[in-house]
Amino acid sequence: MLDLVAHKVHDESRQGESYAPQNPDNKVYTRKFYIESYGCQMNFADSEIVASILNKEGFGATRNLEEANLIFINTCSIREKAEQTVRNRLQEFRKIKTQNPGTLIGVLGCMAERLKAKFLEEEKLVDIVVGPDAYRSLPKLVAEASEGHKSVNVLLSREETYADISPIRLNSNGVSAFVSIMRGCNNMCSFCVVPFTRGRERSRDAESIVRECRELFENGYREVTLLGQNVDSYYYTPPYSQPEEAQPVTFARLLEMVAQISPLLRVRFSTSHPKDITRDVLTTMAAYENICKCIHLPVQSGSTRILQLMNRTYTREWYMRKVDEIREILPDCSITSDIIAGFCTETEEDHQETLSIMDYCQYDLSYMFFYSERPGTLAQRRYKDDVPLEVKKRRLQEIIEKQNQLSLNNYKKDIGKTFKVLVDGDSKRSADDWVGRNSQNKVVVFPKKGTTCQKGDYVNVKIKDCTQATLFGEVV
Ligand code: SAH
Ligand code: SF4
Ligand code: F3S
Repeated sequence: MLDLVAHKVHDESRQGESYAPQNPDNKVYTRKFYIESYGCQMNFADSEIVASILNKEGFGATRNLEEANLIFINTCSIREKAEQTVRNRLQEFRKIKTQNPGTLIGVLGCMAERLKAKFLEEEKLVDIVVGPDAYRSLPKLVAEASEGHKSVNVLLSREETYADISPIRLNSNGVSAFVSIMRGCNNMCSFCVVPFTRGRERSRDAESIVRECRELFENGYREVTLLGQNVDSYYYTPPYSQPEEAQPVTFARLLEMVAQISPLLRVRFSTSHPKDITRDVLTTMAAYENICKCIHLPVQSGSTRILQLMNRTYTREWYMRKVDEIREILPDCSITSDIIAGFCTETEEDHQETLSIMDYCQYDLSYMFFYSERPGTLAQRRYKDDVPLEVKKRRLQEIIEKQNQLSLNNYKKDIGKTFKVLVDGDSKRSADDWVGRNSQNKVVVFPKKGTTCQKGDYVNVKIKDCTQATLFGEVV
């Protein structure tokens, strides 16, 4: 398996990292591509598909912009700021293009889908525009662009899942990998651009998912994260040609199939829409020790009135009962969230309800944003973006402070407990320490001295101290 180094996960601080080849086969490539990714884990997983498609065409990856024949930027449209980051980056690519006029610049992902051919008018330096469902056409588009024709393919598909393409793992630590299980989203949250950029929801062939996870395990990986905008609505119906006993596969069943590969393979998943996570999923999680006890359950707001305007399809009380159900079936489970401050018409009372639902749910971590109006969404068409920016920012700050408090309290409760930790590698701060994560996805740092463990091993660590984002302990 060809491996590339340099990749990263969904985390605002790590946006935009590039990839470079490790090249174990010592193959020398005369044509090279450079790729940089922004946005969610799905986009990073897609870049691994793109790398695989380009590699088959004889392009090697490089981390050095100057030696690249192709420069790709995999983009995100979720908030205005995400798009601005991409535009700024494109301006930096302009210098490279001036030095090497033959270099082709391609825009991939959600911004490509949103802006389509308009991108070519707005950003003259761009040669290729490709939407998330059109990556198979990249070889053709690159060939056209090499001949001087700007090329665009932003067709969305109802079927494409890239099921048969083996992703090239980019900058993986060799322990943990993302596996895409579905694409698109059929929910219509009024603030969200994803249904427009990613198209209709479709589930990937269950067998191909299990095969990919098994291969990862056989290649030494010890953790897979099953990815989708709404994993709990995964539903795969085998084609008619299969035997009659072939049953549709639900998300709970898929989780079980992946968990059964080996007790040594940890299984995670993201993201769950609160309306779709079933009791079946929770009881399956409880039944398998290797299905990690961590649920990302974005609440968005604590006010029923705002949730209705957001078209989230649940109320404050309904969401709280869902959290009760999780706590009842999975007492050790961590719960994390996404929260939006200052959605259209949000009052101080609504905002207070968001703060109080956070207290109720005791989130271990949240991704927090202020509302950013997106062109074409239901909210943009129907509601006025009427909360002043200073108010949005102040409310967001209060939400962040609340989350910091909750995280610290939660982490403090772990002092004295012993966790099974999967070792990810050296701690960023010191090569004398290992860093890993427990089942709840909390980062655990512990001294190497006196231990014999290696990257990819499981060890029991007793927690002695913490910050709001890290547990510190010792191997027992
Ligand atoms: N499919 C996932 C979310 C994907 S987007 C889910 O339903 O949970 C990730 C997060 O970005 C969302 O949960 C939301 O909190 C935030 N987000 C989406 N659109 C936004 C907007 N217009 N302004 C601010 N935040 C937004
Ligand atoms: Fe966007 Fe809602 Fe779909 Fe998540 S579930 S991607 S927030 S529309
Ligand atoms: Fe962004 Fe597209 Fe993901 S808009 S968050 S990259 S699905």
